[in-house]
Amino acid sequence: MQVIILPSARDVALYAADCVVDVIDARTNPVLGLATGSTPIALYKELVGRYQSKQVSFRHTTSFNLDEYIGIADSHEQSYRTFMNRHLFDAIDIIATNTHVPLAESQDAGTLKKSAQDYEASIQQAGGIDLQILGIGLNGHIGFNEPTSSFASRTRIKTLSESTVVANKRFFKDGEFQPHLALTMGIGTILDSRAVLLMATGKAKAEAVKAMIEGPLSAMCPASALQLHETATIVLDEEAASLLALKEYYQWCEQKRQQLHEGNVS
Ligand code: F6R
Repeated sequence: MQVIILPSARDVALYAADCVVDVIDARTNPVLGLATGSTPIALYKELVGRYQSKQVSFRHTTSFNLDEYIGIADSHEQSYRTFMNRHLFDAIDIIATNTHVPLAESQDAGTLKKSAQDYEASIQQAGGIDLQILGIGLNGHIGFNEPTSSFASRTRIKTLSESTVVANKRFFKDGEFQPHLALTMGIGTILDSRAVLLMATGKAKAEAVKAMIEGPLSAMCPASALQLHETATIVLDEEAASLLALKEYYQWCEQKRQQLHEGNVS
């Protein structure tokens, strides 16, 4: 794991935007894996700004989102499709049909299973994901892979944990139906990405971040599965990094990595 610790949440967003643009510049038909939630909003804002100032085009980019709530329409105010359209897709030149969010409106298990299989097949057909953007839940989830999810899991129906339902309650009106099920890429699906970039900001994430980076490889912290990925970058602000035991070491490694990049091996 490459652990990058930056002064602020804004620096985290800028760093992630640079990584996304690097992938777009390097590939003819880049494939991005995208996340929703509060953390990547600043990244998407930055990408929209760079698109508007003509620093990047998404014309040839395909995207796959991690997850979607089961049982609400794409057009629902709180669907992840609506979130992505609002924060990114409608403001850039990506071709709408090249954006994928799991189709999860149905309440029929058979239809949802087929939708999950089709999602996996679409990722394969696109050539796999070049860069998967991730956030982390308070309980260590990635996508909606809650604690005890299999590290080999693929896109499937997942029951949300109480902690996730409570954390996301703020987005739903009082008395409004709040889904307790989601269709999510599996941990195995995420690990297949050629590179992953997990962003975490704020003190509330510090425990989960510590468990992910320094804890044992454990299904109790799904994000710890990223320890198995060859090209996983974890980019943190100071608060999210505050409980790391080896914080100074990660900063030292980053200095050395930059020196190596400049050809200096001293
Ligand atoms: C969202 C997702 C989730 C979030 C996580 C953190 O697509 O996959 O794993 O990344 O719940 O959410 P925030 O950023 O709101 O703290």
